[in-house]
Amino acid sequence: MEPTQQPGAGTRLDPWVDAYAARTRGLTASQVRALFAVASRPEVVSLAGGMPFVSALPLDAMADTVARLIRDRGAVALQYGSGQGDVRLREQILEVMAPVGVTAHPDDIVVTAGSQMALDLVVRVFCDPGDVVLVEAPTYVTALGVFSSYQCEVVHVPMDDEGLRPDALREAIDAARAAGKRVKLVYTIPSFHNPAGVCQGPARRAEVLEVVRSAGLLLLEDDPYGLLGFDGSVPRAIRADESEGVVYLGTFSKTIAAGLRVGWAVAPHGVREKLVLANETATLCPSNLTQLTISEYLATQPWFDQVKVFREVYRERRDALLESLAGLMPEGTRWTVPAGGFYSWVTLPDGLDAAAMLPRAVAALVAYVPGTGFFADGQGRQSLRLSYCYPEPERIREGVRRLAGVIETELEIVETFGSPTAVAEREGPSAPSPDLA
Ligand SMILES: Cc1ncc(COP(=O)(O)O)c(C=O)c1O
Repeated sequence: MEPTQQPGAGTRLDPWVDAYAARTRGLTASQVRALFAVASRPEVVSLAGGMPFVSALPLDAMADTVARLIRDRGAVALQYGSGQGDVRLREQILEVMAPVGVTAHPDDIVVTAGSQMALDLVVRVFCDPGDVVLVEAPTYVTALGVFSSYQCEVVHVPMDDEGLRPDALREAIDAARAAGKRVKLVYTIPSFHNPAGVCQGPARRAEVLEVVRSAGLLLLEDDPYGLLGFDGSVPRAIRADESEGVVYLGTFSKTIAAGLRVGWAVAPHGVREKLVLANETATLCPSNLTQLTISEYLATQPWFDQVKVFREVYRERRDALLESLAGLMPEGTRWTVPAGGFYSWVTLPDGLDAAAMLPRAVAALVAYVPGTGFFADGQGRQSLRLSYCYPEPERIREGVRRLAGVIETELEIVETFGSPTAVAEREGPSAPSPDLA
């Protein structure tokens, strides 16, 4: 008797390919993720992923905190908790937000599994398929993943050295509305932007808020890096000046530990109720163990001194990056000068394509994220993001040296054969190369 052949059996094809919901069409592996496998090999200098340098934490103190917590309060720490988050932690979050000027009531806060989860919940409760979300050009790659998984239409708004441009924002809102579209959210990362590395000044924030207010829209303010300014100053959050029209997202990922997965949203009353219900359907409740770990850490450790340690670590790495870029990059290469956070946005000389160049960079043992990953519409070919948060300064210098060599070679290739973009335009569309597919 012939064995029955199941569809896809014996192959790597997915037999369920026709069964997935339409919303999963937006779920594709981000370029950052696809890169992690290669970039995490020790011989590669990865300037790609934005991993916080958690080794700078007082790990012994953290270990004692967790041990004490389980020993003394294990019955609570290991139990289900509230869908809104632990009440003591919500009170402490108010203190953590004091430097950015956000004042609220503990009831206004919803604790989530990282701010990524909060972002997902906000989009889930606001956006129907086809709703327009306005975002910076470029923007945070995994926010794009959320918007596309809820089938939103993403409209990019140009930035300048101070971030989101209010005039362009107003135009984009008007244009979307004139085209009969429903605009739902404006998503911005005002402080030490991922990936652009720029920061909105106070006047710029006020202008952005004014545009959003006058359009009657909700602003989604994502602020993972606000405390990580290198000169010690902390930019005032937009939420500090508007409580009804802003949902503010915060996280402990960059100031304590990303692996604990604790973030939060501060939202106006009605929105907060919906977020709690959405949080419950997604996870029942955020982890008590990790929330109480953070809560104990905040109560017993000099957490703000630790923030200062992180600032110093990242400032030194930023300096290593900028000095080597200035010393080594071929003419025509430009980059942003971050005053905080983890990233610099590099624009390559004319004719170069960062996505096409990536396999050659990885072969030269350096990795970055190509700019196209930070756009929903294919922009960004000439750009790339460099993260300086994780490698030691010496590795950063070596990474930039390798990258400069790759760019030099690329320029020679372009001089001889023409730019990849020009070749692609001449030859028409082709399948992606195996390296990038
Ligand atoms: C702009 C931005 N928003 C949100 C997140 C998600 O952070 P969390 O670890 O809190 O989920 C990140 C992480 O890199 C980020 O850069």
